[in-house]
Amino acid sequence: MSKVGIGIVGSRFQADCIATSVRAMPEEMEAVAVASPTKGHAETFARRHGIPSFYSDYREMLKNPAVEMISITAPNRLHAQITLDAATAGKHVVCEKPLCVTLEEADAMIDGCAKAGVLLLYAEELFFAPKYVKAKQMADEGAFGRIHLVKQGEKHSGPHADWFWDVNQSGGGALMDLGCHGIAFCWWFLGKQKVKSVYAQLSTQVNGKRTQGDDEAITIIEFENGAIGMVESSWNKPGGMDDTIEVFGDKGQTYADMLMGNALPTYSETGFGYAVEKASSTKGWTYPVFEEHWNYGFPQEMRHFARCVRGKETPISDGQTGRVVQEVLYAAYASAGLGKKIALPFRPKGIAKPIDLWKKPELAQAAL
Ligand SMILES: NC(=O)c1ccc[n+]([C@@H]2O[C@H](COP(=O)([O-])OP(=O)(O)OC[C@H]3O[C@@H](n4cnc5c(N)ncnc54)[C@H](O)[C@@H]3O)[C@@H](O)[C@H]2O)c1
Repeated sequence: MSKVGIGIVGSRFQADCIATSVRAMPEEMEAVAVASPTKGHAETFARRHGIPSFYSDYREMLKNPAVEMISITAPNRLHAQITLDAATAGKHVVCEKPLCVTLEEADAMIDGCAKAGVLLLYAEELFFAPKYVKAKQMADEGAFGRIHLVKQGEKHSGPHADWFWDVNQSGGGALMDLGCHGIAFCWWFLGKQKVKSVYAQLSTQVNGKRTQGDDEAITIIEFENGAIGMVESSWNKPGGMDDTIEVFGDKGQTYADMLMGNALPTYSETGFGYAVEKASSTKGWTYPVFEEHWNYGFPQEMRHFARCVRGKETPISDGQTGRVVQEVLYAAYASAGLGKKIALPFRPKGIAKPIDLWKKPELAQAAL
């Protein structure tokens, strides 16, 4: 069967990752178009990645019959509208995390794609990260007995683009940006069971001048079978990206460090080109990674999504996954606002963005 034609919306950080990942799996898919509004960016991106078509308006790209599936790598506030436009145009959708900003948007995206008969795929690459997949395989074989605690942490020195720091564009801070990975991870690792309650402690420790958002977040998720997920998210960690998990059961445990654990402990007095995402220096002791995208699982994720389009695989991460994460994000912000545990289901209506539930606790209280 032919390769799945992919159109990328956006041309910066995550777009580069997706284009590179698509190229790494040439037997399943190819990037056929890119759209980005800033003059010249789509064209430069297309030349860099050998993509034949480029557009300044994604809606024009959606008219291209070679595009079967789009990958949305635009800011969070645009995910819902782009998804709905793509569904109307009959294109399958891969949406980067977080799925969107509000629960209403999540519902509309899921309904819109279902009605149009297209797939809505939620890009949570941790479900494909080889180390984490190995940990889950062992857990599913019973290696750790009954698992009672799963931890995931994602920490770096803060986002590269201004819009992340503007809560009106992002919807929230480190919890929204990084915590969405850990929430999805714990839920997936524990077999996608129901979330019973959420407790979160949020603060803005370092970046109060730059953002209204949380830059430090600890989220505790209680699952239906009593197991606990614990998610640590931070924009305050210098020295490069950190992504780790810990799994504890009554018969054993495992630990995985995705980046430092896949790196070369290195000392250099002169420095060199690149060590790891968001590392500010390559001088002295550093931990340069190799096969960075592969270790995260991005090529494997896009391969899986392309195979879903061809009916060869069933999605393991879809719009429903994104909605579960979105509801936990709402509950976590509400928990921080009220200083107490929030029981699920928790689906307040009319919230403009998740962080409002922290900043305006009366909104959270009214939803209980
Ligand atoms: N899975 C991951 O680990 C991961 C990593 C980074 C980013 N992301 C997600 O990917 C998305 C993009 O993040 P990023 O880091 O690439 O941001 P970025 O700021 O580097 O890039 C955003 C891109 O969107 C484009 N854009 C803005 N408005 C647009 C519009 N109307 N139509 C089309 N394109 C438009 C910008 O021109 C830019 O090219 C975010 O939702 C982010 O959370 C996911």
